[in-house]
Amino acid sequence: MSIDRRGFLKGVGSTLVAGALPVSVVELAFAKSSENFTFAYISDSHIQHIKGDKFVRNWDRGLIRAVAETNLMVPKPDFVMFGGDLAQLGTKPELDHGMEMLSALNYKIYGVLGEHDYYLDLGEHWEKVFGHPQWYSFDHKGVHFVVLNSILTFDDWTHNRWESAERRMNEMAGLDNPNGSPFMVGEKQRAWLKKDLSRVSRDTPVVVFSHSPLQKIYKGWNFWTDDADEIQALLKPFDTVNVIYGHVHQIQYNQIGNISFNAVMATAWPWPYPSSYAQAESHLAKLTVPMNRADPFFERDATGWQFIDLHTGRVDLRYNLYNNQNRVVAFNQKTGRPEDQGFQDPAARVAPQTHY
Ligand SMILES: [Fe+2]
Ligand SMILES: [Fe+2]
Repeated sequence: MSIDRRGFLKGVGSTLVAGALPVSVVELAFAKSSENFTFAYISDSHIQHIKGDKFVRNWDRGLIRAVAETNLMVPKPDFVMFGGDLAQLGTKPELDHGMEMLSALNYKIYGVLGEHDYYLDLGEHWEKVFGHPQWYSFDHKGVHFVVLNSILTFDDWTHNRWESAERRMNEMAGLDNPNGSPFMVGEKQRAWLKKDLSRVSRDTPVVVFSHSPLQKIYKGWNFWTDDADEIQALLKPFDTVNVIYGHVHQIQYNQIGNISFNAVMATAWPWPYPSSYAQAESHLAKLTVPMNRADPFFERDATGWQFIDLHTGRVDLRYNLYNNQNRVVAFNQKTGRPEDQGFQDPAARVAPQTHY
């Protein structure tokens, strides 16, 4: 552990006294990078307008506390990524109110589009409040960052099916609504990605942010991106690729070839695992050790924050769960995949806790 890292942990520890909160801090420490740095990651706040100046208080509190925590980080993060679903139903009051809270951050903010931000006006107001396009890339201290809009769907569903934009938004906002439609990045954006990556050397660490997983987990809840295979193929030539995503509001991790996948927590609420809740097949659970929570709708159960090390370009996540057992999911160089440091061995897993 470097001195820098120790200082970083000390900073995290001091903020923990104030309460463990739903913010991710990502530390990048690449061997080839001249300068280590950190960035913070906050996701899925689902700011929900009631009427007038009233918003759902619990969702507000999750975001306000994450912002306050991020401002206290030592060392300071270089920037903050917001992982999508800032709004619940994509309205101007929700996006404006969400950004009003985010703008209390002392750092530059980048955004990822979530379906809850998008399907009312197709991202128009979101672009205004974040001040950048729906997909883009940037380089920072030797790392290539790519942000994708992964929540697009078929043109026919988007443009021809619904009598109003509000109805379209409501249909896409339901997690298990059969009237929804599969997410995809789409041909236009894939062509852009191919061109963007053609300028990046193979040994440059690549970090991709998406809202939905760029892997196929469970289509029924859109824990899924329809053209994930095509995106993975574009990322295949690079030595080290990390995909970090929101949307699923839970711990998930996976390794597909050269690509490590990690999900982050939400500030609003946790989702259950499809395999346990809907008895649905999961293609992820073989590697992912689920969180041991008993009640997915317990107010702060399984919300939390984590920081992420990318030593040698691979991802180690330390999940600090507000009302649950802390977890560490780290990349194991020997097995070449992320593994839970305490519970990966089936014999070491613990039964779900009870709150009642
Ligand atoms: Fe979400
Ligand atoms: Fe989402």
